[in-house]
Amino acid sequence: MSNTLSRQKFLQYTASAGAAMLLSSLEGFALQSTQNKLRVAVIGCGSVSNRYIPHLQTSALIEIVGLCDIKPERAIAQNQQYKVNAKTFANIDEMIKGVPFDMMITLTDMQAHGDLNRKALLAGKHVWSEKPLANNYAAGKALLDLARRKKLHLWGAPAVVNSPQFEFMNKTLREGKLGRVASAHGQYGHTGPTWSAFFYEKLGGSMPDLGVYNMATLTGLLGPAKSVVAMLSIVNPERTVDDKGKIKVEAEDNAHILMEHDNNVISHVMCGFNYFDPHGHEAGTQALHSIQIYGDYGNMRLIGYDWETNGVVLDTSWTEPAKLMAADKGSYVWQEGATVTGESIVKGTEPRINVEHALHVLEVIEAARASQLTGKRIQLKSSFPWPLIK
Ligand SMILES: NC(=O)c1ccc[n+]([C@@H]2O[C@H](COP(=O)([O-])OP(=O)(O)OC[C@H]3O[C@@H](n4cnc5c(N)ncnc54)[C@H](O)[C@@H]3O)[C@@H](O)[C@H]2O)c1
Repeated sequence: MSNTLSRQKFLQYTASAGAAMLLSSLEGFALQSTQNKLRVAVIGCGSVSNRYIPHLQTSALIEIVGLCDIKPERAIAQNQQYKVNAKTFANIDEMIKGVPFDMMITLTDMQAHGDLNRKALLAGKHVWSEKPLANNYAAGKALLDLARRKKLHLWGAPAVVNSPQFEFMNKTLREGKLGRVASAHGQYGHTGPTWSAFFYEKLGGSMPDLGVYNMATLTGLLGPAKSVVAMLSIVNPERTVDDKGKIKVEAEDNAHILMEHDNNVISHVMCGFNYFDPHGHEAGTQALHSIQIYGDYGNMRLIGYDWETNGVVLDTSWTEPAKLMAADKGSYVWQEGATVTGESIVKGTEPRINVEHALHVLEVIEAARASQLTGKRIQLKSSFPWPLIK
């Protein structure tokens, strides 16, 4: 980092927390001109941090300077395990005061994302957030407005639009190879996380944890949804999880969501925490066709999960067998979102992952809950720049 010396020198004179905060907010500006590494701070050092931290460490443009968890022993353990050499903290306020950084990476319980992302933006930090960005669309949109006012970047998972298979399906659709598209289906389920209760608590559920991937893929390919109808249920009312023992399940663990897109296209997502799947989170050998898209001249089926896929089967002939296409994963991995967006700040480029897309998916989830509650079809108001790849 070209300005490391000056920052160290500055810190020698600024022991007070207030001065550290001032430095931290000023440094967002420094990044654009003098710094060639983005300093990131990870909040939430649980399961998914085991994927994020090593991926961030592969980037020459990113340095992890802070690790934070309300279970502080987890931040300390990850610091040692991955030899990060970061400062560790027990809460976001301490971290914002305690270490200068440019971008926060939010990997906590889903329900905490919105408040933490807001605090980070208010402190002048860019944000990459695991899904969802916030607990509802209005709160998410307020975050984006805040980010724009402060000239900061905000992005949300998932990163599915970055896969070569998404790119292939997008191209196939845009070239009209399937004819007039009518219907699509996405599905993602397993028997549910065993480690944390938040997945099953209010505002958790299989939609923001699992269905969100299919929603991002299908809206990314077919365009924004105009309206949503859904049925949600709780199949398994009690669970035993590592952090809280026996708990009551309060959020849907079984969901079917219908989305209406432009041109009378209808897509369907099903997701749940009660789906037997011997692959669970290990998707490498998964053969399921988890995304299927049908037109009147052809269809295509994505193999494996949309977040870790093994290719796309394309069927466009009455006589020839279906073909396996886009079997090469390239460098894409599902945990790359923070790295890719962080690097885009340093390079001054625009990543394909788009925050309005993440917000639109959040509105779909909220609309599905409203539809279940009222028995009605819910009109959506949000949209995003589409197509994502021209
Ligand atoms: N585990 C996975 O394989 C996986 C994959 C993709 C996405 N995700 C997403 O990542 C997020 C985290 O999931 P996870 O499985 O790692 O959960 P986890 O329970 O293993 O980890 C969450 C961590 O956040 C900490 N935390 C909670 N509130 C906090 C706060 N206010 N400040 C600081 N730390 C706080 C918890 O103590 C815990 O260590 C969720 O949004 C989840 O949907 C998880």
